Amino acid sequence: METVLVLGATSDIGIAIARKFAAAGYNIQLAARKPEQLDAVKSDIEIRSGVSCSTHAFDAVKYDSHAAFFNGIKPDITIAVFGTMYEEEDAFNDWSLAETMINTNYTGAVSILNIAARHYTTQQRGTIIGISSVAGDRGRASKLVYGSSKAAFSAYLAGLRNKCFKDNVHVMTVKPGFVYTRMTENLKLPAPLTSTPDEVATIVYNGFKAGKNTIYVKWFWRYIMLIIKNIPEFQFKKMKL
Ligand SMILES: NC(=O)c1ccc[n+]([C@@H]2O[C@H](COP(=O)([O-])OP(=O)(O)OC[C@H]3O[C@@H](n4cnc5c(N)ncnc54)[C@H](OP(=O)(O)O)[C@@H]3O)[C@@H](O)[C@H]2O)c1
Repeated sequence: METVLVLGATSDIGIAIARKFAAAGYNIQLAARKPEQLDAVKSDIEIRSGVSCSTHAFDAVKYDSHAAFFNGIKPDITIAVFGTMYEEEDAFNDWSLAETMINTNYTGAVSILNIAARHYTTQQRGTIIGISSVAGDRGRASKLVYGSSKAAFSAYLAGLRNKCFKDNVHVMTVKPGFVYTRMTENLKLPAPLTSTPDEVATIVYNGFKAGKNTIYVKWFWRYIMLIIKNIPEFQFKKMKL
């Protein structure tokens, strides 16, 4: 059976995705900054699903470590889940916070996924899945730096899909709206528009199986963002979104 690497496996969405693929029989590699925090998840996956599961140290912003890390485990499917979101007003005033968001959400993702893509194109098979965000679909004051880092990540994934298609490598972009996780625990989220990590995992798995290019979680976010993208700029710049 194929092996799935989850980058950012301590995240609520990452754990749910790992469990979903394990339940379908895939072997799992869990990678995170603090892999020792994954021991319980690893045991749970092995016991419940009877697949092999390993844990690995991975830091998205330690770019120099990425090649040795990836080439040491060579998964069949790579899923980039890691991400950072700070308060935008704090990040506007403190460059170190803005820099961390940009370096984690975009630069780190490009660094590790370029390595994965080179491996997959050489062997003429493989899948890359990136968890971006609807926040990247249009620049907004309330998601100034986070949104622009995700916009860059979405554009990168689209370009990578285009680059790797001829080599039988599939790249899927995932754009969640609101999800109940550690990242959003301090926010008041509108229940009808918000997903659970398990719902995200099921939609990601089904999208992967169907060979989708870009999926929104949930589906209606595609239309919400279509409306937001079509608001004329002269009007949009006066709005609080
Ligand atoms: N929650 C939402 O509403 C929502 C909506 C749209 C998109 N997303 C995206 O979904 C993804 C998962 O987020 P989540 O909601 O599940 O939040 P989360 O539980 O806070 O997960 C964030 C993950 O990113 C990891 N991470 C941060 N910096 C890292 C680095 N330098 N190297 C490696 N890992 C790093 C964290 O690891 P540590 O445990 O070491 O901190 C954690 O595992 C993110 O890309 C996020 O942008 C979330």
